[in-house]
Amino acid sequence: MPLDIEKIKIDLRRATAEAADDKMLETVRLGFLGKKGIVAQMYVGLATALPEEKKLIGKEANEIRQLAEELIAERKIFLGQQNKQSNAIDVTLPGIVSPLGTRHLIHQTMDEICDVFERMGFVIQRGPEIEREFYNFSALNIPLDHPSRDSFDTFYLDEADPLTPGRNLLLRSHTSPGQVRVMQKFKPPLAVIIPGKVYRPDALDASHSFMFHQIEGLLVGKQVTFSDLKGLLTTFCQKYFGEDVVMRFRPHFFPFTEPSAEVDIQSNIFKGRAGKWLEILGCGMVHPKVFEAAGYPAGEYCGLAFGMGVERIAMLKHGIGDIRTFVENDVRFLKQY
Ligand code: PHE
Repeated sequence: MPLDIEKIKIDLRRATAEAADDKMLETVRLGFLGKKGIVAQMYVGLATALPEEKKLIGKEANEIRQLAEELIAERKIFLGQQNKQSNAIDVTLPGIVSPLGTRHLIHQTMDEICDVFERMGFVIQRGPEIEREFYNFSALNIPLDHPSRDSFDTFYLDEADPLTPGRNLLLRSHTSPGQVRVMQKFKPPLAVIIPGKVYRPDALDASHSFMFHQIEGLLVGKQVTFSDLKGLLTTFCQKYFGEDVVMRFRPHFFPFTEPSAEVDIQSNIFKGRAGKWLEILGCGMVHPKVFEAAGYPAGEYCGLAFGMGVERIAMLKHGIGDIRTFVENDVRFLKQY
């Protein structure tokens, strides 16, 4: 019985087109090209065929074999691509929402403090964390062999200071070196704040860290007075802690300011600690020696300066009892702010 070669072709096309995966395609391949497949059967038929039919059957068997090989190979490529695509993106799956982080409380606090001063006309400047002894000490009227240096205990680096033979570079122990750098760069009148990291070799405990943040302030002009300093810092505390903040200026000593003071505050935001004064910053009128080190002419300018500890202020404002929580990166702590 002659084979319906056209019907075989139609079946072949349909079967390959309907093969939805490699396994189904393999079944199709076996059905047509396998040992007991259609093409094999056609060749078997050849043996018993009449001589005049042999040529035609042989030709048709070859045709089917070729077509089957082509269609199956094509389908294989198509299925492979489809597989890759579906592995890459399944648009029907629900999305995965990545948890969003927040700005670290220390940076939020620095932004807020800087904001208050920027609204009063101060501009932000930055100094290097790796500093020279000159800026960290000498230019600030802290002689290298003077005991007042002890309160600014310092990390020294192995790197030599290229400008001072025999002395090494250090990690700044306060942001005050920025005062001198700014004054070398700009002429008065100037009003700057210098936020940044500072380093001191303190043992880590609830209130000490070897690295913390400060915000330095410096205002220089022809007629700057101590009452400007008091007014400025009082306004800052009211804006930052609230109008009802209670504060005091307490006389203090810094080698680079004269007179000098520390500011303490007492506020109802410190639940359970009412009545306790807490120190938040050091301040004073810029010492003439500092102007001299910055290269300003003697007796021409006066200025006020202050330096506040950011961790301290954030702890007070948010009732945080341990400075280490800022660097532990516990998400449960961080995400509250
Ligand atoms: N640099 C001082 C400190 O680290 C703070 C300060 C800054 C005091 C500016 C007076 C003026 O403690």
